[in-house]
Amino acid sequence: MDDKPTNLPRTQPNGEPLKPITDVMLDRRATQHFLPDEVPEKYLNAILELASEAPSGYNLQPWRFVVVRGEENRKKLQSVAFKQPKIAEAPVVVIAVGMKEEWRRTADEVFREGARRGAGSIEKWEQYRDGAFQFLDGMQQMPVWVNRHTMIAFTAMMLAAEAYGFDTAPMEGFDAEGVKREFGIPEEGEVVALLAIGRAEGEEKPHPGRFELSRVVFAERFGEAWESNDER
Ligand SMILES: Cc1cc2nc3c(=O)[nH]c(=O)nc-3n(C[C@H](O)[C@H](O)[C@H](O)COP(=O)(O)O)c2cc1C
Repeated sequence: MDDKPTNLPRTQPNGEPLKPITDVMLDRRATQHFLPDEVPEKYLNAILELASEAPSGYNLQPWRFVVVRGEENRKKLQSVAFKQPKIAEAPVVVIAVGMKEEWRRTADEVFREGARRGAGSIEKWEQYRDGAFQFLDGMQQMPVWVNRHTMIAFTAMMLAAEAYGFDTAPMEGFDAEGVKREFGIPEEGEVVALLAIGRAEGEEKPHPGRFELSRVVFAERFGEAWESNDER
């Protein structure tokens, strides 16, 4: 397994500094239309590397990403994704897949490697692995488990792309069976989401509004008012 990457670009392609995380999170919009401009390979790789740094339960990393750049392939993807125009427009569309069974075959490697690197006890890695199997075998809904983890890596990918100055569009509008068939995704693969990456064409749509914190955040117990007190 790889070490943490050390040679990722530290600026946007135009030489400007990376966007600060607050700007990324406030200014990101789900882009409606894309220009055909390519995402340079160096940046695409960096975006994928950063996504792969996402955390996952037991570090099992059940996500897999199919990077679709070929024009014919993007059209094929578009045909199984409700003909969404951005899929054919954007230079890159990533299919995020969660693997429901593969972790059984990779768990030994993950736990042994973690222990070897000092992230766990070398004597106890098998015990840890057995605990993980017990936990995951008790999991009733593997689609939920793979979605949980794959969406963290997917979100990291989206935010990394935005930090490098690219625009993105997350998508759930697709026929999962069609995507699996057209792109050779194994039976156990759960197609979680699509991410278009590129440059927006024209103005981004306006901020569509968000619920106030008082509607989505509770204090201590569900339903109890969250009263923010910036003075605290
Ligand atoms: C997981 C996910 C799936 C989405 N699927 C689609 C989609 O298939 N098509 C689409 O046009 N927008 C899709 N969107 C974009 C949302 O409509 C958009 O994020 C939302 O309206 C908020 O707008 P904003 O992202 O610009 O803040 C999706 C967003 C997310 C997070």
